[in-house]
Amino acid sequence: MKLNLGCGNKILDGYVNLDKFAYYNSNIVHDLEKFPYPFEDDSAEEILLAHVLEHIGQEPEIFNSILKELYRISKNKALIEINVPHPRHDDFISDPTHVRPITPLGLELYDKEVNEFWQKNGAANSPLALIHGVNFKIEKVEYLIEDAIIKQRQTGEITEVELERMMLHQNNVIKQINIKWRVKKG
Ligand SMILES: C[S@@+](CC[C@H](N)C(=O)[O-])C[C@H]1O[C@@H](n2cnc3c(N)ncnc32)[C@H](O)[C@@H]1O
Repeated sequence: MKLNLGCGNKILDGYVNLDKFAYYNSNIVHDLEKFPYPFEDDSAEEILLAHVLEHIGQEPEIFNSILKELYRISKNKALIEINVPHPRHDDFISDPTHVRPITPLGLELYDKEVNEFWQKNGAANSPLALIHGVNFKIEKVEYLIEDAIIKQRQTGEITEVELERMMLHQNNVIKQINIKWRVKKG
């Protein structure tokens, strides 16, 4: 089974499309902040969360419950595709329904091996995979840069090093982050 959670009006063939609002023509109407989700354990091989994760789980406890539920319904090695606006972009800060920033480092808190490494090395990062009994591994992170900045790079107006610095420190440089997240069970 492939799931398109928070589908909105992007109804995808071959997917079970779910949204909170009956307004959309989804297959299932369900609130992702209500548990359990209407899916069996180990039933999803792919989950798409396109511009959804930043809208849900404002309370840390609810966010952790969402991740535990995604883990429960996923098969071992399921792929979770996450697309989010970058937290330092106006797209993120302008929408009142965006309730939390999503970053690769934030998602790494749910990686068991990384938690164990941090624990061994005395790092202060919250070991959320160990606490909540989940394990997700980031496989790929893609940053989509604003067109105007890409042009500046192509014309040589900015160097690669300057671009990297801008990506880290400036607003409205990275528009979107695409993350491939792999479920690890057993
Ligand atoms: C920005 S839209 C993205 C829609 C679609 N995925 C896309 O890529 O165009 C966010 C979607 O998440 C849905 N959503 C927000 N909170 C939700 C919740 N608690 N449970 C289920 N869906 C939710 C909204 O109804 C909306 O359709």
